[in-house]
Amino acid sequence: MKVLLLGTGAREHALAWKLQQSPRLTRLTVAGGNAGLAQRWECRAVPLDSGPAVVALARELAAELVVIGPEAPLVAGVADALKAAGIAVFGPVAAAARLEGSKAFAKEVMEKSQVPTARWELFDDLERAAARAEAWGAVVVKADGLAAGKGVVVADDGPQAAAAVRALGTLPSGKRLLLEERLTGPEVSVMAFCDGERYALLPASQDHKRLLDADLGPNTGGMGAYAPAPVLDARGLEAVGRDVIARVLRTMTAAGTPFQGVLYAGLMLTPQGPRVLEFNVRLGDPETQPLMMQLDEDLLELCVACAEGKLEARTLKVHSGVSVGVVLAARGYPEKPVLGDEISGLESVTGAQVFHAGTRREGEKVVTSGGRVLTVCARGDTFEAARDVAYAQAAKIRFEGMQYRRDIGKGARPG
Ligand code: AMP
Ligand code: GLY
Repeated sequence: MKVLLLGTGAREHALAWKLQQSPRLTRLTVAGGNAGLAQRWECRAVPLDSGPAVVALARELAAELVVIGPEAPLVAGVADALKAAGIAVFGPVAAAARLEGSKAFAKEVMEKSQVPTARWELFDDLERAAARAEAWGAVVVKADGLAAGKGVVVADDGPQAAAAVRALGTLPSGKRLLLEERLTGPEVSVMAFCDGERYALLPASQDHKRLLDADLGPNTGGMGAYAPAPVLDARGLEAVGRDVIARVLRTMTAAGTPFQGVLYAGLMLTPQGPRVLEFNVRLGDPETQPLMMQLDEDLLELCVACAEGKLEARTLKVHSGVSVGVVLAARGYPEKPVLGDEISGLESVTGAQVFHAGTRREGEKVVTSGGRVLTVCARGDTFEAARDVAYAQAAKIRFEGMQYRRDIGKGARPG
């Protein structure tokens, strides 16, 4: 089977690595890519959010399946364009991708589906939102649309909340704002492969969103992740499948927009039970990197089953042990990443997988070309063992001002 994979991140590098293990794969081509992907697979530069451009490339390659990694092409309707052209695609159509593209839409679907979530109010008017936020105080302010991880502020008090409303209101995605009850508890990510009707659950995983150790510093796209996350046990995972994933699938089907692809529920485990904070309509980054190392299934078969509506409902098989992925980020990340620094030591890594994100080849050199540069992933029987390997290998890699957290997977314990 000839497959086209869309994306440029370490998530896509991990997906390519896993797809390549499928006996059914004959050729994998990447739309987008980076230096790591280009080392092994042909990479083609196309505008990833353009349906016509992706369709043209898929046709040229005679691709039998297109796997879409990031959210932006999904929200932009690239899956719709491929379907209309008769090309099988893994990933939801735009009407279903609104679960991530609009937080207000996600809340409506949660309400209809009776999915447990934080109390919320929606505002079109900035000044009314600011007044309500000021009165509410400890509240979470969210821009309605896609904001690349910059659309959420957790406020401590009234003045902070009102300031957050005004700041987010200036974003293109901030024309509508959501105010949300502030919840507490550990966070966990649950992802399910979905074929519209049935779902197959990946183990729970956890990412580390803050830049610095002990969850200090600014929010980022994610500084590392581990899987399985013991904070959610097998029964808890099943309950999320039943009470969240299954219900959303039914609502989406009833609305005439069945959800096909990966549905990602970002959850907070509150004292009152799990609450959904957000949906994503694709695999998480960096969670996918350790998840792909754990997954003991044929990823290509899974993607095809979703695209064809023939998924077998189950909990997916995983290897024993755990995986930990440590993100190495550029200096200046997340505010203002400095790019173009030479990366050394990549060839000396052993016993770990290095998935590339913001990297680019420049002659003989590989240089940084994005905020998150690499994810170093290792498996082990225990978190300690996996961490030891990941960190020993990460330490062999060098670039100017390289930043990484030293505590990825350290807090992993049963809830
Ligand atoms: P989201 O993009 O909606 O997942 O929000 C990003 C981050 O903001 C989450 O990972 C949480 O850490 C935090 N957050 C979002 N919603 C809430 C909430 N209702 N209560 C507390 N923290 C939240
Ligand atoms: N790791 C969170 C996300 O992919 O959105």
